[in-house]
Amino acid sequence: MTPDAFRELGHRLVDWVADYRKRMDKLPVMSPVVPGEVKAAFPRSAPETPQSPQALLELLDQAVVPGITHWNHSRFFAYFPGNSAFPSVLADLVCSALGAQAMSWQTSPAATEVEEVVMEWLQDLVGLPRTFTGVIQDTASTATLVALLCARERTTGFGQRRGGMQAEPSALTVYYSEEAHSSVEKGALMAGFGAENLRRIETDEVFALRPERLAHAIETDLGQGKRPCAIVAGIGTTATTAFDPLHAMLALAKKYGLWLHVDAAMAGSAMILPECRPRWQGVEEADSVVFNPHKWLGVGLDLSAYYVRDVAHLTQTLSTQPSYLKTAQDGQVKNFRDWGVPLGRRFRALKLWFLLHLEGAEAVRRRLRRDLENARWLAAEIARNPDWEVIAPVALQTVCIRHRSADNMAVAQRVNLAGRAYVTPSVVRGRAMIRVSIGSEHSERPDVQAVWDELQRAAACTQRPT
Ligand SMILES: Cc1ncc(COP(=O)(O)O)c(C=O)c1O
Repeated sequence: MTPDAFRELGHRLVDWVADYRKRMDKLPVMSPVVPGEVKAAFPRSAPETPQSPQALLELLDQAVVPGITHWNHSRFFAYFPGNSAFPSVLADLVCSALGAQAMSWQTSPAATEVEEVVMEWLQDLVGLPRTFTGVIQDTASTATLVALLCARERTTGFGQRRGGMQAEPSALTVYYSEEAHSSVEKGALMAGFGAENLRRIETDEVFALRPERLAHAIETDLGQGKRPCAIVAGIGTTATTAFDPLHAMLALAKKYGLWLHVDAAMAGSAMILPECRPRWQGVEEADSVVFNPHKWLGVGLDLSAYYVRDVAHLTQTLSTQPSYLKTAQDGQVKNFRDWGVPLGRRFRALKLWFLLHLEGAEAVRRRLRRDLENARWLAAEIARNPDWEVIAPVALQTVCIRHRSADNMAVAQRVNLAGRAYVTPSVVRGRAMIRVSIGSEHSERPDVQAVWDELQRAAACTQRPT
């Protein structure tokens, strides 16, 4: 493609993006396609000759868009907010255009240095002290894996340079709440701890980890000759936005010499609001912290912010030094390939820079405060209705609700299939519930009112005798 052909199609596609976002709210939020439907619209083999841009646009509209669940839709209330604000969309275009490789400082100095700048901006915005240093990871799952690898290597004195976990004289154990995200267990398994050495600690009536149970589990493991290694604290758990007791967990981590990793994937964005920061008080004592600007903040997937206190330990755990990667600047600069799993890295920092530059932090704060206010409003509406109940404290923007007599799974499914709003059915402690996660960029009070109306209508229909 020539630059001029790129310009022409590029302009059409920018128009297409703007039009898509304008009409998106009229599309069904959850994709209505059936399995195989999208595939069937595509040719069975790759084109041998150039096809027309027009045919591409037609396939995009006719096959791809119907197969999209619109995470930026103002009535998207499922899972967690996955906003991709326009500045982030534009940054992605520039990122691809530059094609920069951010694996080493030398391979694109700007990619490394802009990443340093925006990670410092972000840590100031969420109130993390400069004793932490940040790096962008693709996802919170990867960051948690990295944290657990670092924990493992600290406990074993870099056992990976000897026989690895297989040569350790006793098993290393990891602790996290039964409400922790599945990525914690996955990371621990990938880091080689073994399922038998993972401890899911009981939670209390507000779904937060019980510190006395954690202390008991550590003592029991020590008594059985195991080596407690790491604790993962959930700051805003996935199902109910529970906040584990960070101070008590940090005290145990200190007492027994364990790594403490904070998983604030969703809730971390809220910390740009000073009034939310008491929720993670003590975080400055953690060994590592992750949160996802690619959730509520407005940066499109994928951009996960990972902060560590001991950079030397991180890079000692993950660095590789083949001759072809050595550069004259090593020692003076950051080579981010040594701060995570992949070698190749995109210039993701552009997305955070564009967003903060073009919108400013205050606009993001205003949006998040709007969402918190809408969540409180919805919770109050539900509390007034005797047929419904709010089943977990509304700590941030997620409201966990259940209809007292209807089949909640069927209610959620009915809402989702109707296409006018999208919520997540879930099960907590064996009870079916519906999560309404507020926080789509353009979700205003009438949208929240609309999902509440949809839920009530769906409950009335599912209860009607057939
Ligand atoms: C608390 C928590 N941790 C981790 C994750 C995983 O995030 P990612 O998709 O960035 O791996 C999620 C996703 O919802 C989450 O809620």
